[in-house]
Amino acid sequence: MTPTEILQDLMSPAGRADPFPLYAAAHRLGPLLPVTDDIFLVVGYAAVNEVLRNPVFEIPAEPSSQPSLELMQRSILRANPPDHGRMRSLLSQVFTPRRVAGLQPAIEAAVDELLNGLAAEVDFMDRFAFQLPVTVICELLGVPTDDRHRFRPLASDLTAALELTDASDAAADAAARELGEYFAYLIQDPPPDGLVAALVAARQRLSDEELLANLILLLVAGFETTTDLLGNGLAILLRQPDLPTNAAFVEEVLRYDSPVQVTTRVARERSEIVGTPIPAASNLVLLLGAANRDPERFPDPDRFDPLRPGNKPLSFGAGAHICLGNSLARLEATVAFDRLRPFTITPNGEPTRRDRLVLRGYQTLPIRLSGG
Ligand code: HEM
Repeated sequence: MTPTEILQDLMSPAGRADPFPLYAAAHRLGPLLPVTDDIFLVVGYAAVNEVLRNPVFEIPAEPSSQPSLELMQRSILRANPPDHGRMRSLLSQVFTPRRVAGLQPAIEAAVDELLNGLAAEVDFMDRFAFQLPVTVICELLGVPTDDRHRFRPLASDLTAALELTDASDAAADAAARELGEYFAYLIQDPPPDGLVAALVAARQRLSDEELLANLILLLVAGFETTTDLLGNGLAILLRQPDLPTNAAFVEEVLRYDSPVQVTTRVARERSEIVGTPIPAASNLVLLLGAANRDPERFPDPDRFDPLRPGNKPLSFGAGAHICLGNSLARLEATVAFDRLRPFTITPNGEPTRRDRLVLRGYQTLPIRLSGG
């Protein structure tokens, strides 16, 4: 297979459903694969890690007249220096490890409440995997929890715009508009103690658009990917129920079936990746999911093995943009899988995947649950 064929196939329905054989084919070709003179697939672990950590590789500007993308461009996720550093230091000040660690009792209570309320036959995605992170992030932000049911379809429509293929633009725009209006209303009189209030208080260091964009990002990034982590992990447990469900299990789920499979960068100037010269303005498609299955870094990469020594997947990125919520996501998943352990959980019908490459997860995961 050529790199062009690999990229095309990754964007096809079959490639989105199961990208892993394509990642294996890519690794056989090398760590850095030219698709055209100025588009490269970055697939090796060391190569992806190097790009993420080298500031010469920036977030692509992608000017867009599409409101949903335009809005996301103003958030920290799509910012470059000096704006990125300004937003990152502000968000790190309000989104502290202490604040996250302090959430543990609330996370445990939320997990127990959800598990107590589960029927014997449920869709795990709808009744648990979505509910837990949306409850936690609403609490952290200070968004009234009564509003949370609105967010799953809106987030899904909005993040469809992140896919490499043409997604439903109109739906993404409508979602961006609705979330924008929601937060514009909320910031007028934010509930005390939440991140919304903290960011409103720091307003002189953020433009109005940046404030809205970052609040929407925190909400959406705060639950969609974590929902996928919980679903992807449960699907593995359904196949291998005897696995221990501890922090090492969560780390291996992140490696094996990463909720974020792809990100992008552009080379600001002529540079090198793993010793190979790259022209200025090259577009880089970083396959995080492929890096996590690099046989040079992870022996027997297609085997799920929570006991891997030195397991450090790139699922949360690395370098300046490393996921701000990584410890929160890990905490939620560790508590959830720990509390799920006493239950007997079996499949109750065929699961369905979301038809996505970039954000990988299940739409439905029907289960039968007993014991506990
Ligand atoms: C950035 C993954 C959960 C907030 C990122 C990036 C990745 C990622 C890969 C970096 C993208 C890049 O470098 O291009 C994930 C995964 C999660 C998760 C796999 C769950 C399993 C969360 C949570 C929050 C969050 C719970 C917030 C509550 C953010 C923010 C950024 C980010 C604000 C941007 C940081 C920056 O640009 O400096 N995430 N994330 N994420 N994530 Fe997460």
